Amino acid sequence: MTISDAARDASGLDLASLATAHLTPVLGRYFERSWERGEGHHLYDTDGRAYLDFANGIAVSVLGHHHPAVTAAIHAQVDRMIAPTAAMGFSEPSVRLADLLATTLPDPIDTIFFLNSGSEAIEAALKLARRVTGRPGIVAFTGGFHGRTIGAASITSSNINYRKGYEPLLPSVYLTQYPRVYRDFGGDEERAVRVTLGHLEALFATTIPGESVAAIVIECVQGEGGYIPAPAPFLRGLRAICDRHGILLVADEVQAGFGRTGKMWSFEHAGIVPDVLCTAKAIANGLPLSALATRRELQEAWGKSAHGTTYGGNPVACAAGVAVLQTIIADDLVANAAARGAQLTAALREIAATDERIGDVRGPGLMIGLEFVRDRATREPDGETCEAVIQACADEGLLLISCGTEHNVVRWIAPIDVSAAEVDEALVIFRRVLASVRVQA
Ligand SMILES: Cc1ncc(COP(=O)(O)O)c(C=O)c1O
Repeated sequence: MTISDAARDASGLDLASLATAHLTPVLGRYFERSWERGEGHHLYDTDGRAYLDFANGIAVSVLGHHHPAVTAAIHAQVDRMIAPTAAMGFSEPSVRLADLLATTLPDPIDTIFFLNSGSEAIEAALKLARRVTGRPGIVAFTGGFHGRTIGAASITSSNINYRKGYEPLLPSVYLTQYPRVYRDFGGDEERAVRVTLGHLEALFATTIPGESVAAIVIECVQGEGGYIPAPAPFLRGLRAICDRHGILLVADEVQAGFGRTGKMWSFEHAGIVPDVLCTAKAIANGLPLSALATRRELQEAWGKSAHGTTYGGNPVACAAGVAVLQTIIADDLVANAAARGAQLTAALREIAATDERIGDVRGPGLMIGLEFVRDRATREPDGETCEAVIQACADEGLLLISCGTEHNVVRWIAPIDVSAAEVDEALVIFRRVLASVRVQA
């Protein structure tokens, strides 16, 4: 039976069961629900139920769904031109987006290479770093997630499923400890910074010399790994180490970029500037697009035709990207993310003060992780309660998703144009769910 036969046979449109015929069984899903449309900050399922969407297709719909300016820009571009490849010449939307993006980037970063996905931007960064420095080594951090292509998976360790059965992965990749201040250091930031920078120095002293390392890749706020910000002193220390050894610092801003953390780029919280920035997800509010950005000299050294793409920087996605950035700037949405993030974090901390199951609530901005534990003293992760709370929230009309190596962290990723009233609405549901969900130990 084909899917279309099944669709004709079905009385209602149950996409979840229809999908079993031909959609891959490989993809994991947070929900077995079927989605029909998105409007503003709500998603609607095929039964017509509305959900306040604080998951945003995993941090993609930074301006919510069907945003009028973005939708209009997409429509206009579709009518004009869809797809010359980048190799055919220039398209107005890609040039305009590069120009606009450059205004948000710190000096001296000013040169953009558009691609299609976060993983592709990371792959490009690894290739650039190796060719430009002539060095083999890549250093990344435990618990990090950088994508599913072989290069990106080689520097990913947030879950064994991203690596299992794919060895041998990229050679000359070294993982070192990320400063998980709450989970590994019981909240002692100073010790977390000292110990983890010490591990990196030890790596250079024992395993690979700093002068053989091309790049250090980091999420300044770990995403899949548990919404964990690296302390500013750690990032400043990392920058200094890179400078000392001539290593390129690659900031993976695929999830944390685009204003979500209350700054346009998450590395800004530490006052550092990376050598290479990779971003994706929010860049076109849902259309496939990513970007690698560096100072011009680095991409000149990378060399003509050292890398390429068929779809990267396609005009429709770039037109959407221009509308996204124009809206973020015109509506001062980075400031809104900071303000609404402060509102949400304060309220979640108030909830945590009287709920022993919550071990930690951490920002920055609207990239908030709330961590469930079985025991506050041991910090033993409680993925079961996290999952039960998330599914109950969905039943109550609030979409949240989990993250963390132990799947015990609720990630709050509201769109950055969320209102104070919507934050309050989500909190009402969350409180109600916490009061009703009790997982037996
Ligand atoms: C920090 C980070 N880097 C890279 C990626 C990979 O992006 P993509 O799924 O678009 O390949 C993701 C995706 O979740 C991510 O969160």
